[in-house]
Amino acid sequence: MSKLALHGGKPVRTKPFPGWPFFSEADAQAVARVVLSGVWGCTTGKIVGQFEETFAEFQGARYGVALTNGTTALRLALLAVGIEEGDEVIVPPYTFLATATAVIECNAVPVFVDIDPETYNLDPRLIEAAITPRTRAIIPVHFAGQACDMSRILAIAKKHKLKIVEDACHGWNGRWKNKGLGCIGELGAISFQASKNLTAGEGGFLTTDSEELYAIVKSLHNCGRLKPRPDGTLPGRLAVHEKAAGNWYAHFLIGGNHRMTEMQAALLLSQLKRVKKQTDRREVNAFYLDRELAKVPGIRPMRRDSFATRVTAHLYMFRYDAARFDGKPRQRFLTALKAEGVNASPGYPMPLYKQPLFLEKNFGPYTGWKHSRPDLDYGRVSCPACEKACAGEAVWLSQSTLLGSRRDMDDIVKAVAKVQQYATEL
Ligand SMILES: Cc1ncc(COP(=O)(O)O)c(C=O)c1O
Repeated sequence: MSKLALHGGKPVRTKPFPGWPFFSEADAQAVARVVLSGVWGCTTGKIVGQFEETFAEFQGARYGVALTNGTTALRLALLAVGIEEGDEVIVPPYTFLATATAVIECNAVPVFVDIDPETYNLDPRLIEAAITPRTRAIIPVHFAGQACDMSRILAIAKKHKLKIVEDACHGWNGRWKNKGLGCIGELGAISFQASKNLTAGEGGFLTTDSEELYAIVKSLHNCGRLKPRPDGTLPGRLAVHEKAAGNWYAHFLIGGNHRMTEMQAALLLSQLKRVKKQTDRREVNAFYLDRELAKVPGIRPMRRDSFATRVTAHLYMFRYDAARFDGKPRQRFLTALKAEGVNASPGYPMPLYKQPLFLEKNFGPYTGWKHSRPDLDYGRVSCPACEKACAGEAVWLSQSTLLGSRRDMDDIVKAVAKVQQYATEL
């Protein structure tokens, strides 16, 4: 009889891995204090401002703006750097929807460039071939919390005068050459959505070192209002509005209400105290899994680049080679792994450009592409590395799994090795 739990054998483990979110009495008290204060909005409260300062400093940025979510952060960042109708923005296809729809919502055109099969991050070797006279920006996504090859991306951006908006929704608190992810390009977009390594259920953030971009984002997130400096001046392009700014009923930019609540900020500030310890644990466990899983035939962990000086492991990914598992498809492997007590995910089932939204160009009123790219056809896009990852190669473990102990990591390795050993019985 097979020893696989799938066929009635003893599973490697039955104990669950750590869940998410973690929370404490101190978190609850922090939120309760805000509730009982009766000051819940950031236009009158002070907690969101405190969080903005604390978190920007934590990231190593000069300025930060707290927002409703990462999707909004991406869109406001693109608006702030001046993306306009018909502009092209380079994005990877292996990412959450918002990286590309933020571009569409600026009336601009997302141009998909394939990922590096070794890291699943935007492949810098392929970027220049996608640049046209209409290209204005690149959105590198530090996927799963490992830094993109920013030296090469910065060099390309400089050569072609492109802006960089980093999607650091997974990568915040990670480092590239010891610099915070999200603090390398013009702006960095961050998410505090429920699955993220710091969460208030929802929430977002933008970091920047530019006072001008900061002032623009501040305005965009607060209904287009402008708050001058104490001496009455405004930075950069906003200077033309100096005389009129400061009034609550004076709206200058096409902004909206994208403000974070005081309750969210209190919850985030309280959790921030344990982020370092949690990140250390995830990173140590990720490197341990890299080493141990590499010993299992047919499993290839992702490449770790030396410039990625801190990896947040928002996900832990590895690559599955069906040929070394008796030709069995990834889903069969995952089902067997689950029976052994390890829950893993196949990740994205398709590259972003294969979503009906793109194939059918259901872009609503965002018609910038109609004027600049009437021939635009996402059905013709081909990114082989991404297609391979989606079709049957990628395997994801959640960030909370990586908060387990060394023994928990050993169970993951044991379960994967066991399924490989009995692959013919899958
Ligand atoms: C890579 C990436 N970008 C952007 C986002 C959008 O963030 P949010 O869900 O906070 O809008 C996410 C969130 O899931 C993400 O994973």
